[in-house]
Amino acid sequence: MKILIVGSGGRESAIAVKLKEDKRISKMFFAKGNPTTSQLGQNVYEDSVEELRDFVIKERIDLTIVGPEAPLVEGIVDEFKKHNLKIFGPRKKAALLEGSKAFSKKFMQTNNIKTAKAVVFEAYQNAIDYVRLQKFPLVIKASGLAGGKGVVIAENLAEAETTIHQFMIERIYGDAGIQVVIEEYLSGFEASIIAFANGSELFPCISAKDYKKAGNGDVGPNTGGMGSVAPSPEFTAEHYKDFEDNILAPTLKGLQAADIRFKGFIFFGLMVTANGTYLLEYNMRLGDPETQAILPLLENSLYDIIMDCLEGKSIDLKWKDEKSVCLVMCSGGYPRNIETGFEIKNLDKVEHSQVLFGGARRMGDKILTAGGRVLSLVATGATYEEAREKVYKDALSIQFDYGFYRKDIGKF
Ligand code: AMP
Ligand code: GLY
Repeated sequence: MKILIVGSGGRESAIAVKLKEDKRISKMFFAKGNPTTSQLGQNVYEDSVEELRDFVIKERIDLTIVGPEAPLVEGIVDEFKKHNLKIFGPRKKAALLEGSKAFSKKFMQTNNIKTAKAVVFEAYQNAIDYVRLQKFPLVIKASGLAGGKGVVIAENLAEAETTIHQFMIERIYGDAGIQVVIEEYLSGFEASIIAFANGSELFPCISAKDYKKAGNGDVGPNTGGMGSVAPSPEFTAEHYKDFEDNILAPTLKGLQAADIRFKGFIFFGLMVTANGTYLLEYNMRLGDPETQAILPLLENSLYDIIMDCLEGKSIDLKWKDEKSVCLVMCSGGYPRNIETGFEIKNLDKVEHSQVLFGGARRMGDKILTAGGRVLSLVATGATYEEAREKVYKDALSIQFDYGFYRKDIGKF
């Protein structure tokens, strides 16, 4: 079996490590991959949907797995299916649940899915008139894809007006700001649940916790994720029941009613408040860095469960009774301005955890920083503390200029 994995982050490294366990896989290709994936297979430079399609045909690749959202929203699955190529992910229409927050909010509202109250705007002046009558904080979201930056929690009217102007008039995120979603602010803690979809059923994984803020104790700007743990110790059986009844079940019903069938992943970004569990967003892919923490606990062959889902079969996910901690090491300045190109040293001293590269590249025999989230360190243990000690011991060894990481990942 030959597999292509689209993407180049820590998430794709985690998928590669998990698939590597399966001896039936003869070769893995990564577009464009990173220094972890180049050890496990071959990194390639094909990038556009058409280039990837032609590559898969030429190399006779048996299965393609898509990591990031952009190619899904662009329609990579539709294009591959036109050519009878096996690919795991939603078509463009289903990917809109992530690609358009206006569409997904309407989907949630129509299907009685527990979510924050919200209104969608297409006209700038209407949005401005609306926020003038609201209480703060208020959450303002650019509807389209904005690389995870299109959500602003406005603390007052001035901030709300500036944000709406930036999104809708200045178009700082381009067409993502054609529509905005303005919604009530929910306070609580966040949890992530990722499910496999086989076209007619959803199979949720164990929960995970993503540490989104840049600073210790959850302060500072939002990031792509500074670390993760699985399962989330905060997400109790009671929260899970609330999720199943008020989010998972109506989502499945809504998908069927709208005739949205897909074989891929669906990610539920949840906020647990004093009034229960709310859905903030769907992503139609695996989360990063949740995947790095979740996959080491999965007992099934990832290849088998993906193939079963593609054939429309039911799957039975099995999990190790352990805890997993993922610590992300970042470039100085992240998530704002970063400088890259610094050598990552002492990788040979890592003893206790798995290194999964993300924003890094190989140059000769050196590995250099090349992005904000440079690498993930992942370890499992009988307790969070045990897993946590392993990743933090290794983080002390690894050195690159201006690097930093949170000190409180997995600390409960
Ligand atoms: P989203 O892309 O919609 O998940 O939003 C990104 C992040 O913004 C979430 O992970 C939350 O941290 C925050 N957020 C989004 N919606 C809300 C809300 N209604 N109340 C509070 N925080 C929110
Ligand atoms: N960790 C959330 C995401 O991947 O968007």
